[in-house]
Amino acid sequence: MKDRFNRNIDYLRISIIDRCNLRCIYCMPEEGIKNLLPHDEILSYEEILKIIEIGVILGITRIRITGGEPLLRKNVVHFIEKLSNIEGIKDIGMTTNGVLLKKFAKDLFMAGLKRVNISLDSLDEQKFKTITRVGNLKDVLEGIEEAYRVGLEPVKINVVVMRGINDDEVERFALWSKDVPYQIRFIEFMPVGVNSWKKELFISTEEIKKKIEAKTGKLIPVEMKKSGPAEYFTLEGSTGLLGFISPLTTHICIRCNRLRLTAEGKLRPCLFSDKEIDLKTLLRGGASEEEIKDVIKSTIQLKPQGMLEDVKPSRPMSTIGG
Ligand code: 5AD
Ligand code: SF4
Repeated sequence: MKDRFNRNIDYLRISIIDRCNLRCIYCMPEEGIKNLLPHDEILSYEEILKIIEIGVILGITRIRITGGEPLLRKNVVHFIEKLSNIEGIKDIGMTTNGVLLKKFAKDLFMAGLKRVNISLDSLDEQKFKTITRVGNLKDVLEGIEEAYRVGLEPVKINVVVMRGINDDEVERFALWSKDVPYQIRFIEFMPVGVNSWKKELFISTEEIKKKIEAKTGKLIPVEMKKSGPAEYFTLEGSTGLLGFISPLTTHICIRCNRLRLTAEGKLRPCLFSDKEIDLKTLLRGGASEEEIKDVIKSTIQLKPQGMLEDVKPSRPMSTIGG
């Protein structure tokens, strides 16, 4: 379905849990998120599947499962299996921190998951611990390898680059792409929710590219059919790809194709907007399929043209799902 700016909305990102087993400095306060949702405030899998089925009628064909950390939710494999049985769903991806991926990758793939995006902000064990506060780099690296081994392709690695924290590693990540068959994507640090965003921590894609090219030689542009918000490059003789996502320095909103559903059942037209529509109350109040469909339609029409048009979201990223 088209929104007011002629963008085709065919992609739904669904947060299935607000909890996480990491405490990434750019995402959460150290003590974690207060007011985590009680179990019955979280949409049940049945409710999520219902919403997806209605979304499909309106043209949703691609789903991404996020969190918090989606692999922390019980029976997630079974849920993926149900989801992949919905006719009209062409693509199912997941964004995970990778900590539990080694254990789950094979079953997820068998259940119908197509691909994973893994957040990995440092290749240095100590620094990884500093950024995630509690994580072990080795778990994530093993999870990534397993994902690729079982066929979850492409494996995308998301690196949020912060000045003075991990910007000294962009060259290392770039060189890594020579040897590994992954798409390594550098993401500009965004001011989302109550996170630790400061101007001093921000580093633009342009600057990241310059740093990389100074070390590795020219970045060679690669045309991708469905690249979403990222622009892709490769290095001479590389196995993998390098991607850049520039929410703050380019107009990525022009190609925005998505809606977001939070774990507690709020449908959001835009990551950068505080507008949200309470689907859970509607569903639990016995709303008809037709009514839900109308609400999804009007949410699509609420999508702003760009992020500057709206206020920044006051929810933590872990409750929206990135
Ligand atoms: N800026 C940019 N990216 C972020 N992510 C989480 N918070 C931010 C932020 N403030 C990324 C994570 C993850 C995805 C869900 O979003 O690294 O890969
Ligand atoms: Fe880190 Fe993602 Fe967990 Fe936030 S939700 S703490 S970014 S792993």
